[in-house]
Amino acid sequence: MKKVYIETYGCQMNVYDSEIVKSVLGKSGYELTDSEAEADIVLLNTCSVRENANRKVYNRIHQIKQRRNDERVMIGILGCMATNFRKQLLENPKLPIDFIAGPDSYKRLPQLISEVSANGADGKNFDVTLSEFETYSDVYPTQSSGVNAWVAVMRGCDNFCTFCVVPYTRGRERSRSPENVVDEVKRLADQGFRQVTLLGQNVNSYNYEGKDFAYLLQKVSEVQGIERIRFTSPHPKDFPRNLLQVIAENPRVCKQIHLPLQAGNDRILEMMNRTYTQKEYLELVDEIRGLIPNIVLTTDIIVGFPTETDEEFEDTVKVMEQVVFDSAFIFKYSERPHTIAQRKFPDDVPDAVKTERIVRLNELQKTHSYQKNEAHIGEIHEVLIEQETTKKSPDEFQGRNDGNKIVIFPRGDYRKGQFVHVRITEVTAHVLRGEVVEVLSK
Ligand code: 5AD
Ligand code: SF4
Repeated sequence: MKKVYIETYGCQMNVYDSEIVKSVLGKSGYELTDSEAEADIVLLNTCSVRENANRKVYNRIHQIKQRRNDERVMIGILGCMATNFRKQLLENPKLPIDFIAGPDSYKRLPQLISEVSANGADGKNFDVTLSEFETYSDVYPTQSSGVNAWVAVMRGCDNFCTFCVVPYTRGRERSRSPENVVDEVKRLADQGFRQVTLLGQNVNSYNYEGKDFAYLLQKVSEVQGIERIRFTSPHPKDFPRNLLQVIAENPRVCKQIHLPLQAGNDRILEMMNRTYTQKEYLELVDEIRGLIPNIVLTTDIIVGFPTETDEEFEDTVKVMEQVVFDSAFIFKYSERPHTIAQRKFPDDVPDAVKTERIVRLNELQKTHSYQKNEAHIGEIHEVLIEQETTKKSPDEFQGRNDGNKIVIFPRGDYRKGQFVHVRITEVTAHVLRGEVVEVLSK
């Protein structure tokens, strides 16, 4: 029996897809292994959202071949690089890969692999066709135990933000039926999961025969055993009011929203094709906070988009200062092949300027994260226990509060998957610490 090892890069959608791949291959008689050294087939599920993600994968391919020094080890490239860098991957004779498969082709993997085995070293095999329909509704991912499970509710993206490669690597938007999603969530509840995170490139566009995301969220929240539901990510351009209502009123839906800002300046937002203005973004934040005062807000920001001036960058600073996010992922603009920005706007902001801007925003965010966390001292938070140890100490437990912040507390007579009330006593910009005051029965 051939052994398969899979390594995952990039976003949670890729992590989810890797489980789909394991499920498909497991059913076809392959054995899955956690050890690259033992594997006959090594799969790299890749990301191409920024250039450094690509570089890592190229290095890894050479490293695997060199270390193994074994002609028989088969290497397959999956995920976003497979679709977006197909030509480079296939035509580079120095790249020792055997096949590539895009995000919509995973059901064909067993066939691709057996074709490669049959043909020996004759050329590389590939399937990178993007589908308008594939949602893997009939494949359940293999995740078998844990506290949080991810569930993809839609695939692809139709927004075409000019910087983003996702519409090209993952194709058109398509949603799974609510019944199919709920079935998967029920199975997860039966396996002991306590939380699900619903995934989509833009969940606000979820639409299955007229059923919207608010409807889906409500249905998922009715599954017995799942106590917490999160989702990522919505798009600020079309945040439905009925969705806000469900978040506000449904105790199982976590009071946390990831709301990618990308930039604070209207000219840059327009060039990015984000289709909202600074004012509209800020009004949305006000509306959310009006309805859900304790909401935890996080964001994504890009610095150094083509032609962004110092003055325009200050608008991003201004929005951050006005909103005070709980946390933020901040990126330097990275030009991606095939995107509208790559075709229309030269990547003209010097790297040194991007570095200056990212350092400044990271520092600002750190003070904001600390400020937000400090306000929690003395409060009692409901924490779902995720780990019976922490990176730093075997005598500590770790979990997350409703807002998805990490909470650490001393070891005690509790278990992973249980809910406890923790009084927050100390904080940093990244974690909350405290002591358990009560074990909850749910
Ligand atoms: N350059 C830099 N950051 C990017 N992102 C997406 N594309 C790019 C790019 N070309 C960021 C966005 C997005 C997050 C997932 O990655 O902020 O929200
Ligand atoms: Fe990319 Fe924009 Fe779609 Fe997000 S919404 S995946 S940033 S195109």
